[in-house]
Amino acid sequence: MTTHPDTARLTLEERAALGSGADFWTSRALGGIPSLVLTDGPHGVRRQAGTTDHLGLAESLPATCFPPAVGLAQSWDPGLVGRVGAALGAEARALGVDVLLGPGINIKRDPRGGRNFEYYSEDPFLTGVLGGAWVSGLQGIGVGASLKHFAANNAEHDRMRSSSNVDPRTLREIYLRAFQRVVRTSAPWTVMCSYNRINGVYTSEDRWLLTTVLREEWAFDGVVVSDWGAVQDRPAAVRAGLDLQMPGDGGRSDAQLVAAVRSGDCPAEAVDTAASRVAALAAKAAEARPDTAGPLEVGSADAEAHHALAREAAARCLVLLRNEGGLLPLEPGGSVAVIGELARNPRYQGGGSSHVNPTRVDAPLEEIRALAGLVAFAPGYAVGRDGEAEPRGEAEPRREAVRMAQGADTAVVFLGLAEHQESEGFDREDIELPADQLALLADVAAAQPRTVVVLSHGGVLRLAPVADLAPAILDGALLGQAGGGAVADVLFGRVNPSGRLAETVPVRLADVPAYLNFPGENSAVLYGEGLYVGYRWYDARDTDVAFPFGHGLSYTSFAYSDLVLESDAAGVRAHLTVTNTGDRSGREVVQFYVAKPDSAVSRPPRELKGFTDVTLEPGGSERVSALLAREDLAYWEVRADRWVVEGGAYTVSAGASSRDLRATATVEVEGDALRLPVTLDSTLGEVMADPRAAAVLVEHAEALTGGGDGYAMGTDMVRMMASIPLRRLLAFGQGDTASLEALIADLNREG
Ligand code: BGC
Repeated sequence: MTTHPDTARLTLEERAALGSGADFWTSRALGGIPSLVLTDGPHGVRRQAGTTDHLGLAESLPATCFPPAVGLAQSWDPGLVGRVGAALGAEARALGVDVLLGPGINIKRDPRGGRNFEYYSEDPFLTGVLGGAWVSGLQGIGVGASLKHFAANNAEHDRMRSSSNVDPRTLREIYLRAFQRVVRTSAPWTVMCSYNRINGVYTSEDRWLLTTVLREEWAFDGVVVSDWGAVQDRPAAVRAGLDLQMPGDGGRSDAQLVAAVRSGDCPAEAVDTAASRVAALAAKAAEARPDTAGPLEVGSADAEAHHALAREAAARCLVLLRNEGGLLPLEPGGSVAVIGELARNPRYQGGGSSHVNPTRVDAPLEEIRALAGLVAFAPGYAVGRDGEAEPRGEAEPRREAVRMAQGADTAVVFLGLAEHQESEGFDREDIELPADQLALLADVAAAQPRTVVVLSHGGVLRLAPVADLAPAILDGALLGQAGGGAVADVLFGRVNPSGRLAETVPVRLADVPAYLNFPGENSAVLYGEGLYVGYRWYDARDTDVAFPFGHGLSYTSFAYSDLVLESDAAGVRAHLTVTNTGDRSGREVVQFYVAKPDSAVSRPPRELKGFTDVTLEPGGSERVSALLAREDLAYWEVRADRWVVEGGAYTVSAGASSRDLRATATVEVEGDALRLPVTLDSTLGEVMADPRAAAVLVEHAEALTGGGDGYAMGTDMVRMMASIPLRRLLAFGQGDTASLEALIADLNREG
């Protein structure tokens, strides 16, 4: 990058200083370059006015708490996510924030991941589409995003030292793919490098990651900021491509950087480049900022409008997992026993740096009271810090709950995890609901057959015991401050649910892909399951799941027909007719899964490559389309170190989940040319796989093998010899070096 004009007059010391924070949340103002305010994020603005910290201990100014990513992802609605991003931008603006530290787009590799509630999905396509929409919405307002945590930061355990040891194809196809998509589609102002190492190298010092991939391949032109405290060797980080170290450390690392330049350990141009990028970002932010500073508060009109948006979003995030006998929606006039402390004190966000001080919180209990005829309430359990019931014993609150359930038309039982049970900084050890809550559910369901369960949790739960007991299950994950109203809206049919799971719910923890490799030990974690993350794993192994990826019911029903595929230079276009076959208006999310039968490389049985939605009146029908982009069909070809689209037949299925594929068709796709150079170490099999090379090899075969047919040895000689490297033919006394070299030259000749 060329030197930014604003940095031209700065000394080396000043340039170094521009690349580290002034304090916890601001960059330095220097030589006329204004400072920037960067703060968390992502599902609300956590602007601290007084004491600052980064783990949510100190209070922040009130701001709307939208559904965290775990909830938002269940909307499968990029338009809605973009609107939430824009509302966050408006609040950031009002609170004097230039860069909001989100979105978090790491892949949920394992349900135990402590920050899964801050991330979108187990699938990189869904994550990339939604993350991109969030960034575009936010930045459209003139507030920058910080795409985090780059990269392969999929557990909290030992997060500041642990090395994510992952093979190159998996890294590209699963862990970097969403970052690549968001950088390309939405140009985030900043990218935040993570705490962990990848294959032994700290991401803050990883030149391959921060420069070769991010800037040279993906054309990122913003600022790379460190996660808070992620830099341990500033000169190494600057050499690798880090621009801004956060938070400020009182000038300690600036001095190290200056010394490194003086001793020749760090090129002065690297410091200049980092300073120039920070200056360019500061100029961009200053231009977007209003001329007069506001009073640093979210105005009441915005607070109202954003609370309404948070309620709309939350309703769209709710997933109806089960609804036996059409138990839901409830009749507004009936009597309801609302059971569970979480109905009164809802769990609506996660703990740690993303923790927001909400402008208000709607409790489901109150919202249900506003809609139902007669409502009784029993807490049933306590949400104590240890997650256990009050010392006076579990039996009495449970008996009270059962009495109420018996006396009402329907019981609605709120179950879930408490805030302290899942948070940034540590992973979960299991995926269980508290035992006292399950015992309560068993008693209530035995007394009241019309029992509905509403779930609140940041990470996936084992739901088999709930599904065994409750005929209806509504999964809220985390819904933000307006979730209470959204739950009531869906329970009483004011909103027809259309959310879909963004993560598979396994039958048991031991089934999960990373079960034996999580969270690792001795500061290393092996990504041993490779590409087979989430549904890719369960489908490849044909493992039963409790609820599949993409699953979610509606109060109406939909039929799919006439799937037609067309292939062109942009990819595969899928067209499908969707019909509302039920008696209510509703929204259907249609998912397109792609398979490549007979692929030359190992592949999951199917992968999500597109989705769309349609809202239809009863009996209504519409043709929907989605482009399954060519770049999304590509796999990472390790031998050529690039993306390659394999040629041939692809199968596309339109599904209502990864396990509910309702229409399937096949299409021919023209492949990318892939010719790998033949060397002495190429095997006969590899050479023969290329028809042009095979023809050349036949010419030489006689000289190399001495003729004769292999079947004399009672085997298929061609298969038996397939693994022999060309060089080893000499060891078998066949041919000579000159004829081998002539063969290789022929094989590598263009044409
Ligand atoms: C978290 C980031 C956060 C930063 C600032 C770090 O501990 O990993 O997600 O943005 O703190 O609070």
